Amino acid sequence: MFVAAAFWRKACWRALLLWAAGLASAADSLWPCPQRCECYPEVLMANCSGRNLASVPEGSSSDAQRLDLSHNRLKSLARRQFSGLAQLRELDLSDNMLSMIEVEAFMGLQNLLTLRICRNHLKIISVGVFSGLPSLRLLDISENEILVFLDYTFRELANLQYLEVTENDLVFISQRAFTGLTNLKELNIDRCNLTSVPTEALSQLTGLVQLRLSRIGLSSLPNASFRKLGRLRELVMMHCPWLDTLAANCLFGLNLTSLTLSHCNLSTLPYAPLHHLVYLRYLDLSYNPITFIQANLLGDLLRLQELHLVGGGLLHVEPQAFRGLAYLRILNVSYNQLVTLEESAFHSIGNLEILRLEGNPLACDCRLLWIVRRRLRLHFDGHPPVCAEPVQVQGRVFQDFTEVELPSLFTCRQARILRRKPQEVRVDEGHTVLLYCKADGDPTPSIAWLSPKHTLLSSSGRIRVLANGSLEVRYAQVHDSGSYLCIASNAAGNDTFPISLRVRGFPSSSSSHNRSAPFSMEGWSLPSPQPATNGSSQGLQPFPFDAKTLVIAVTMGFLSFLSSVAICFVFMFFWSQSKGQIKHTATIDFVPRASGGAGAGTTSTETGRFTMKLI
Ligand SMILES: *[C@@H]1O[C@H](CO)[C@@H](O)[C@H](O)[C@H]1NC(C)=O
Ligand SMILES: *[C@@H]1O[C@H](CO)[C@@H](O)[C@H](O)[C@H]1NC(C)=O
Ligand SMILES: *[C@@H]1O[C@H](CO)[C@@H](O)[C@H](O)[C@H]1NC(C)=O
Ligand SMILES: *[C@@H]1O[C@H](CO)[C@@H](O)[C@H](O)[C@H]1NC(C)=O
Ligand SMILES: *[C@@H]1O[C@H](CO)[C@@H](O)[C@H](O)[C@H]1NC(C)=O
Ligand SMILES: *[C@@H]1O[C@H](CO)[C@@H](O)[C@H](O)[C@H]1NC(C)=O
Ligand SMILES: *[C@@H]1O[C@H](CO)[C@@H](O)[C@H](O)[C@H]1NC(C)=O
Ligand SMILES: *[C@@H]1O[C@H](CO)[C@@H](O)[C@H](O)[C@H]1NC(C)=O
Ligand SMILES: *[C@@H]1O[C@H](CO)[C@@H](O)[C@H](O)[C@H]1NC(C)=O
Ligand SMILES: *[C@@H]1O[C@H](CO)[C@@H](O)[C@H](O)[C@H]1NC(C)=O
Repeated sequence: MFVAAAFWRKACWRALLLWAAGLASAADSLWPCPQRCECYPEVLMANCSGRNLASVPEGSSSDAQRLDLSHNRLKSLARRQFSGLAQLRELDLSDNMLSMIEVEAFMGLQNLLTLRICRNHLKIISVGVFSGLPSLRLLDISENEILVFLDYTFRELANLQYLEVTENDLVFISQRAFTGLTNLKELNIDRCNLTSVPTEALSQLTGLVQLRLSRIGLSSLPNASFRKLGRLRELVMMHCPWLDTLAANCLFGLNLTSLTLSHCNLSTLPYAPLHHLVYLRYLDLSYNPITFIQANLLGDLLRLQELHLVGGGLLHVEPQAFRGLAYLRILNVSYNQLVTLEESAFHSIGNLEILRLEGNPLACDCRLLWIVRRRLRLHFDGHPPVCAEPVQVQGRVFQDFTEVELPSLFTCRQARILRRKPQEVRVDEGHTVLLYCKADGDPTPSIAWLSPKHTLLSSSGRIRVLANGSLEVRYAQVHDSGSYLCIASNAAGNDTFPISLRVRGFPSSSSSHNRSAPFSMEGWSLPSPQPATNGSSQGLQPFPFDAKTLVIAVTMGFLSFLSSVAICFVFMFFWSQSKGQIKHTATIDFVPRASGGAGAGTTSTETGRFTMKLI
């Protein structure tokens, strides 16, 4: 009885096991799955991710389309490693320890579209590794330790569209490395150890549409750095902290619609390199130490819609800066040092949709009234500007002002010159004089000076405008005399005030340089006679001493010369007396042009000999 029960139980178990085995083998025959992997026949996928595999597992179904081998311990791939998987579309080998991939390792994967080998330890990719992948569209070899790309590395990838090469140690890209990638649309090179743009290699990529070059150690961009990339539309260069020089034609040959040059060391807006990019719609120059946007220099970018210059130390946007940019929709100048942004900077503010101006020390006066007026229509993207000045509105957000307050806030006071009593300044020739002009207004007026000839005076030269607005005239010349006009101007208006300057020449000074001509003999080399005859110029070297000093010095020299000659004669007289013999004439021969013992020069003969009568 007991035995029979045991027998039946055994038989039952066996039947159950058999049934289970039958089921399993049925499933196997439906869709074979490698050991330790998970398979999803409905999506034709084998997932072997994170299974601690040291080699590529056997037994995948021949119709698998996706194979995930990421996060394993694979160290190498042999030749024809995946030969049974002709239907594979996607192969993921990331996060392994691959340091060696044999030539033709992927042979037979003629339908493979995506191949990911990122985060491995590849140092070199032999020519031929990517053979047999005619359909490949995407190749990701980022975060390896690849040092060089050899010639023809990617030659057989005629359909590759997207190549990701970020975070390698690339120090060199051979000139023909990219040969054959005629359909490549997008290339990302990021954080490499390259020190220049691989111009020659890139010129093979005639179909390239998007190029990102980031964290590259280059310091300048030479002319035609991207030649033959006529299809390129988007260029991104970011995090190049040494890049401070762009040659005038560095972007020659490109027809971009989007350009990013951010986190570099550009100190001026690259007007010349940009000017031919007439299809440009997006320009990002953020995080460069750019301080000015100059007037009228961006007008060629007539289709520009977005301009980003965030975090750049921008101090001033000149009026007319965006002249010609009729389609400018987005201006992003947050986190700069702008005190204001005048409406006159824009071509027309009708198209402006988004204005990012937060993080600037804004002075809320009449110059910003246009923004407040449009504050309900203009988009600040959730970051409205905040007033930093004047004190009564400090910290207030633009959107919080009510219509009633506006006339009393956001006001300006016209520039007004103080101390307006008529002024005449007199000075002696050769002296330095300061003409004062102080003005008051809100915003603080800027001061300019016009010369008597109505030319604008600059802050350098002999006659210059000082930082505090005073005009300095150094080594005043008689012809500097005249009426100088001080112009104080601010957003609310101008004020002018004339100050007349009279330079008094010292006696006969007007002929001083005519007289100085006989003195310029040998031994009297004047440092630079030109400035004295060209006083009107402002940019010249200052004359080291004035005309009066010169005349005195010359006269003193002449007097001492005469006195030494006189002493000489006295000695000769006594000598002749002591000899007793009286000789009443002396004949002196001399070599013409020898300036030495020519005596008093009382008579000068053509023969080089003259006779003197002695007393
Ligand atoms: C494979 O499985 C892992 C978890 O084991 C998962 O994170 C990963 O996304 C899967 N791969 C695919 C392609 O679904
Ligand atoms: C590449 O640059 C990184 C960081 O700048 C450095 O650690 C690495 O050693 C460099 N590699 C080579 C091959 O020069
Ligand atoms: C770049 O091209 C411009 C215009 O052709 C030329 O003036 C300049 O000298 C060139 N710069 C260099 C470094 O060759
Ligand atoms: C950026 O340029 C400035 C001068 O224009 C220089 O002083 C500075 O060192 C440069 N920065 C880098 C990282 O090269
Ligand atoms: C430049 O690009 C624009 C927009 O992508 C295109 O319409 C134009 O034809 C291109 N011009 C040239 C000369 O390729
Ligand atoms: C403006 O710049 C900021 C800071 O970089 C960024 O967060 C924001 O998205 C930009 N705004 C627009 C409209 O692009
Ligand atoms: C302007 O500066 C100069 C020198 O920097 C000084 O001599 C002059 O007194 C200043 N003028 C005023 C009005 O402060
Ligand atoms: C101030 O002067 C400038 C020229 O110096 C002129 O263009 C401007 O219109 C003037 N502004 C006012 C308010 O008079
Ligand atoms: C000085 O000489 C210039 C020509 O050298 C002459 O035109 C000028 O009248 C002279 N001035 C005087 C005061 O003689
Ligand atoms: C005199 O100054 C003018 C303008 O400042 C300049 O064009 C000219 O070359 C100067 N002449 C001399 C002899 O320096």
